[in-house]
Amino acid sequence: SKVTVSVIKADIGGFVGHSSVHPELLETARGILAGSPLLIDFHVTHVGDDINLIMTHDGGKDNGEIHQLAWETFSSCTKIAKKMKLYGAGQDLLADAFSGNIKGLGPGLAEMEFEERNSEPIIVFMADKTEPGAWNLPLYKMFADPFNTIGLVIDPKMHKGFLFEVHDLIENKKITFSCPEELYDMLVFIGAPGRYCIKSVYHKETGEIAATSSTQRLNLMAGRYVGKDDPVLIVRCQSGFPAVGEALEPFANPHLVSGWMRGSHSGPLMPVSVAQSNPTRFDGPPRVVALGFQLSDGKLHGPQDFFADPSYDLARQKANEIASYMRSMGPFEPHRLHLEEMEYTTMPEVSKRIKDRFEKLR
Ligand code: 13P
Ligand code: 13P
Ligand code: MG
Ligand code: MG
Ligand code: MG
Repeated sequence: SKVTVSVIKADIGGFVGHSSVHPELLETARGILAGSPLLIDFHVTHVGDDINLIMTHDGGKDNGEIHQLAWETFSSCTKIAKKMKLYGAGQDLLADAFSGNIKGLGPGLAEMEFEERNSEPIIVFMADKTEPGAWNLPLYKMFADPFNTIGLVIDPKMHKGFLFEVHDLIENKKITFSCPEELYDMLVFIGAPGRYCIKSVYHKETGEIAATSSTQRLNLMAGRYVGKDDPVLIVRCQSGFPAVGEALEPFANPHLVSGWMRGSHSGPLMPVSVAQSNPTRFDGPPRVVALGFQLSDGKLHGPQDFFADPSYDLARQKANEIASYMRSMGPFEPHRLHLEEMEYTTMPEVSKRIKDRFEKLR
């Protein structure tokens, strides 16, 4: 029988500012999920100011009852957040009421359904102060780069490669690339992570789901500044998929992502433990947490908080150095994002106010 892993997340109020989640909200969420007969197992955690509900069940993807459970959990937490006047209480709940599916209502969603293997190691990656395109580079490395994943070279079960489903978030369409043959074509698109995002990765020979992410653009849905999406990603590991260490390896080099302060800056993605995931300097730098679980009949044995390991100390140091360097540019691009990517900006207002002072050049 198949098991479904659903990771649903939302920022429903920051403690303090946009840095973290108040423990009372996490306890409330745990209490609600513990009381639900729908779930086989669950783990409630946070990265920065985002609450993450990691849930297993046998209801399949896009299950209305599961989505409603998540929605109601976030709604209950929002009530407490409002009472405590936490920052941006209810920020990611864009709709007034639940309507069948949580997609498009604000919370982020990554789900996969599969037949559990003899051993089923999975990693749930969760990021704060960035957007879904932040997963493009690490997913490319995990599933298409032999310098990252030696399994692509020496594991007969991986040697044929993987299929990448890429979404165009602006025009709402998707395309599947077969790698390694179409690597160069794919890179034309996924190198522009503000628009093209890797939604899912599939094993080429078996068609099995290997990875899936939450891809949406909160600001495109809301039509106004509502912070960054702060995306999640589920990756299955070992036996035909990347080894756990191969899935973690891309994060040893903190790549630049969009987000950080006011969702309007470029900065390094710093791998951290849950305990260290409280973006602080200039509301950042952006963070990523990796929790490992061994699934067994839907039970989540874990988590293993991977980036707590000292082998990621150097990545954190490097991220801090990059953060300092990027900060030195202040309000100048490319630290500040280019105009189309700015989450909110004074440009329209300032332009309007001084528009009569612009003189035609001839
Ligand atoms: P062990 O011998 O520790 O099980 O390691 C196997 C392996 O493949 C590590 O990547
Ligand atoms: P969040 O999306 O994490 O709420 O970040 C918003 C922000 O403006 C940080 O400065
Ligand atoms: Mg926030
Ligand atoms: Mg956040
Ligand atoms: Mg956010």
